[in-house]
Amino acid sequence: MNNKRDISTLDEIIDALKNNTDNAESILDRVNLNVCAYHSLSDWDNDQHVRKSIYKCDEFELALLFWNPGIVSAIHDHNGESGYIYVIDGSLKEDVYELKNDSLIKTKTHVLNKGKWSRISGNKGIHQVSSLVQKTISLNIYVQSFNSIYVYDDKANKELEYV
Ligand SMILES: [Fe+2]
Repeated sequence: MNNKRDISTLDEIIDALKNNTDNAESILDRVNLNVCAYHSLSDWDNDQHVRKSIYKCDEFELALLFWNPGIVSAIHDHNGESGYIYVIDGSLKEDVYELKNDSLIKTKTHVLNKGKWSRISGNKGIHQVSSLVQKTISLNIYVQSFNSIYVYDDKANKELEYV
């Protein structure tokens, strides 16, 4: 395993991912972004996270998400596509769900601190992401064209939503 954190800009991440999205996990293990640089792009809302798409091609999309403290996403999946969340600054809680007998069951909760990442995969991945007590910036990578999610209510009914 390569423990070197030698990827320090978004351009370097984009170059590394081109024709190489299968290795997104090892690429993310090498990322160490300059927090100050991304605070300068920041845009905050009190009611929801702010999502800024910064690069999009057929293979993948990169977006920066800005989370004020206490923001909670809808419970959603990624409509069959893989996705990664990398925490640039702050921390996020991720609750992971499974659909069993038409009910949503929470199977895992973990906290992602600065420099940590998580993957949501394919048709199985349903999650809810929340910011904790500090302002948080995440880098989200969506593999393949990403333009819709399914949002779940507490009865596990799902509705397609375009993002
Ligand atoms: Fe998500």
